[in-house]
Amino acid sequence: MAQHLMSTSCSLKPSTNRKPCFKPNQFSTSYPAFVRTKTFGSPFKSLVLQGKRTQSHCTVHATVAPISDEAQTKPNSGSHHSTTEPSNPTRVMVIGGDGYCGWATALHLSNKNYEVAIVDSMVRRLFDHQLGLDSLTPISSIHDRIRRWKSLTGKTMELYNGDICDFEFLSETFNSFKPDAVVHFGEQRSAPYSMIDRSRAVFTQNNNVIGTLNVLFAIKEFGEACHLVKLGTMGEYGTPNIDIEEGFITITHNGRTDTLPFPKQASSFYHLSKVHDSNNIAFTCKAWGIRATDLNQGVVYGIKTNETEMHEELCNRFDYDGVFGTALNRFCVQAAVGHPLTVYGKGGQTRGYLDIRDTVQCVELAIANPAQPGEFRVFNQFTEQFSVNQLATLVTDAGKKLGLEVQTISVPNPRVEAEEHYYNAKHTKLIELGLKPHLLSDSLLDSLLNFSIKYKDRVDTKQIMPNVSWRKIGVKPKTVAA
Ligand SMILES: NC(=O)c1ccc[n+]([C@@H]2O[C@H](COP(=O)([O-])OP(=O)(O)OC[C@H]3O[C@@H](n4cnc5c(N)ncnc54)[C@H](O)[C@@H]3O)[C@@H](O)[C@H]2O)c1
Repeated sequence: MAQHLMSTSCSLKPSTNRKPCFKPNQFSTSYPAFVRTKTFGSPFKSLVLQGKRTQSHCTVHATVAPISDEAQTKPNSGSHHSTTEPSNPTRVMVIGGDGYCGWATALHLSNKNYEVAIVDSMVRRLFDHQLGLDSLTPISSIHDRIRRWKSLTGKTMELYNGDICDFEFLSETFNSFKPDAVVHFGEQRSAPYSMIDRSRAVFTQNNNVIGTLNVLFAIKEFGEACHLVKLGTMGEYGTPNIDIEEGFITITHNGRTDTLPFPKQASSFYHLSKVHDSNNIAFTCKAWGIRATDLNQGVVYGIKTNETEMHEELCNRFDYDGVFGTALNRFCVQAAVGHPLTVYGKGGQTRGYLDIRDTVQCVELAIANPAQPGEFRVFNQFTEQFSVNQLATLVTDAGKKLGLEVQTISVPNPRVEAEEHYYNAKHTKLIELGLKPHLLSDSLLDSLLNFSIKYKDRVDTKQIMPNVSWRKIGVKPKTVAA
């Protein structure tokens, strides 16, 4: 299914100043004294072996050990104590917990005294290596991240390293960890990635739809009471010329009235995978009594959370490239390195946005207020909406204050989307549950820009322009010379 993952030819211009290929030990289990190793029949294992790597690799269930005697630090000694501890510690499995939203969320939940297990195949790190991309921020291995967290706070996070498309692996993780809630971030999440070529389109839909289907079967089989909190996207709705409701709309048609799922108009193979996920989840809530919350998240910006700030080894990833970078984060990096801000087409594209600190808050709120058995809830998870032109103006103004000369250019839109349209999406349900939004402010923009300036020497400017076209996608694997 994922042959392209081991292909040595990448579709985008590879960076010359970045690691040319992934480190042999990237996925190894090389923490000899401390790691409990469990081998599962994961397809990821065979992928790794197909890559002609010499060492033996396996999917591991690892408990990561202390780094040093810092680990003697007492449990709960982190500076960010919980104010809303669950009365009974709740076991939360964070699928995709090594990624941008997942890492911040895993730390936040652990800090709030939830028992956290991270499930991740590390495939995202592999995409970066293959496409010659890198996070603006240096990020530590998942093992170092978890060990550092333990050394700082005394809190342990379990690690299950494997692919959720492998049901045997997923069953083992469920049986071993026995989650009360599963937060599912573990998908291929880039629309441009899904539009590179046929094999990436197929991989995206396979990975996302089958992975989620496996999670649903695992809940049915091994944890009926377990609450699924699934990350969807506001992109599922598209840009209709009416207000977007939270999941459902009441329609009167030919004199009869019903409340129905809000129409979906996805605009990439990635977004379509999310729509299919939502349908599968809704169906299994009805058919099997699964309890689920579909969080239709807007575009996330920002880097710091209370927990990631505690140590540089806890630092989150920050994508700025044309494939994985999201709008505001990209603009801040572009401003920092003196690259014109890249507005696609007319720039009237309007979307919902939120701070990463609100992503972690929203997920916690969803877990603490679970859906009822059989209930399929949909929350629109964003706090403000902006057009691309508005974001460019905000970054230009903030840049001026820091002495940056920020230019904006319109580049041909590689996507197929409306560039001027009506957009008004509801987002009240998480506020009703207690979300206290961090709205985009001048000070946040200053800090994002300063952060981008701090790491500007790591920017590969060749990765900034978009080079995946919705119209030109073909069956031939895209390749570039190294
Ligand atoms: N970042 C955003 O702005 C944004 C916006 C809306 C929705 N979302 C959704 O939030 C979720 C997380 O996004 P992110 O930005 O953190 O993405 P990310 O790519 O940084 O993280 C995803 C993680 O999932 C893992 N993963 C992928 N497939 C897997 C599999 N089959 N088995 C195990 N692990 C797997 C990856 O290795 C990675 O660590 C995604 O579902 C995405 O669609 C993100």
